[in-house]
Amino acid sequence: MNNLKFFCGEGLPLEMHKVKIVQKLELKPIDKRLEAIQEAGNNTFLLKNRDVFLDMLTDSGVNAMSTVQQSAMLNADDSYAGSESFFRLEAELQRVFGKKYFLPAHQGRACEHLLSRVLIKSGDIIPMNYHFTTTKAHFRLQGAEILEIPTDEAFNLNSKCLFKGNIDIEKLKETFERHNKDKKIPFVRIEAGTNLIGGQPVSLQNIKDVYALCKQHNILLVFDASLLQDNLFFIKTRDENYKNKSVLEICNEIAENVDIIYFSARKLGYARGGGICLNDKAIFEKLRELVPLFEGFLTYGGMSDKEMEAVAVGIRETMDFDTISQGPQFIKFMTNELIKAGIPVVTPSGGLGCHLNAREFLPHIKEDEFQSAALTAALYIASGARGMERGTMAEERNADGSERIAAIELVRLALPRRVFTMSQIKYVVDRITWLYKNRELIGGFRWKEEPKILRFFLGRLEPLSDWQEKLVAKFKEDFGDSL
Ligand code: F0G
Repeated sequence: MNNLKFFCGEGLPLEMHKVKIVQKLELKPIDKRLEAIQEAGNNTFLLKNRDVFLDMLTDSGVNAMSTVQQSAMLNADDSYAGSESFFRLEAELQRVFGKKYFLPAHQGRACEHLLSRVLIKSGDIIPMNYHFTTTKAHFRLQGAEILEIPTDEAFNLNSKCLFKGNIDIEKLKETFERHNKDKKIPFVRIEAGTNLIGGQPVSLQNIKDVYALCKQHNILLVFDASLLQDNLFFIKTRDENYKNKSVLEICNEIAENVDIIYFSARKLGYARGGGICLNDKAIFEKLRELVPLFEGFLTYGGMSDKEMEAVAVGIRETMDFDTISQGPQFIKFMTNELIKAGIPVVTPSGGLGCHLNAREFLPHIKEDEFQSAALTAALYIASGARGMERGTMAEERNADGSERIAAIELVRLALPRRVFTMSQIKYVVDRITWLYKNRELIGGFRWKEEPKILRFFLGRLEPLSDWQEKLVAKFKEDFGDSL
């Protein structure tokens, strides 16, 4: 897929798979879309799938599975205890991560819950490249504060830096010097394919440098491998030192340089589930006690045996370069098409999805009027495509109750792997381009219902004016009776 040139010179991503099963989609008329988003409190999480045309909310649990995964599911050894499916998954994880112990969990946040209970005490500080929403919520629930210390490039939305997910080593040294004497840092967390800054990768050198420093200070390094597949692709294609290494070799080398690996198998492994891999026997034993209590027995941890089979095959297929190339290449294609139309997007393009810079797209909307949410809702109205707000709505309020304005306001258009075609991507690019030309029509929001934590899941917003109706009127003027 990478080593292929077109005669026309165009750099198009070429799929190395064929589609064998499809799902019919419907694109509802714009009046129906307006009604649907308003009923959903202008929160795309609350839309019904029947009203969604292209679901770009997330890649979590919705990547297309391979025929090999599907057939492995038929071979599941359904059993409460001692299932062969578990041992097949365990063996696969040992092959790619080389860790002795594996504990299953029903998904990524369940791993975060278990790790928090065992490793965190109240008052702790957890340094990391960047938080993920569920990570932060679980660590805080256990009484810890998180400390984000990526390099400054992380917040430069149009950077030349190829590894914007890296931890700033100098800041990590200072953090250790300031807090480690009070034993306040149980571990450092690195997130592969750093989600909330636009799916940006971490370099293998950075992982090694962080690990060496952690070892000096006797601090654990925990690695969130949920988005590892994209990160593996970027290490191989962006770092000269790794271009001749196999994906498996790169994966093994990462694993050698971290203590604990956890993952959401809704992302890593193209199926649904999660787990924790580690060598430390004492920590393993503490975690093990919690698995039957919160997840399920030790040989399934909340996953169905069928899903464990699918994850095992999915992880094996993740070691295939063609397989992991599809996502980042489609995302790059979409990002480049948007750049051609002059639309502000996060660059370099990362993994997971294409990210619009809502703050730059909608500079006329005030920062506390939810720029990302406004753009996400407007895009749904204009196209039926469902993206995700990744900005202030996804933050939590400051301790004094004031609204915490997100450092960056993004709209994430996730591209689940092998799900969308190029013409569908072109359609979304077309509608975003139209929205950009008409961006002055998009207005802000205020809270209608504000949950206390993880506000973006269930929160409801209301528009500050009749801007949505005006947007619909302009659409009809420009597109006539087109859907
Ligand atoms: N860590 C990262 C980096 C994630 O992206 C996610 C989930 C989790 C942990 C939690 O895993 O969902 O299996 O409990 N990200 C999804 C998303 C929800 O849409 O980006 P989970």
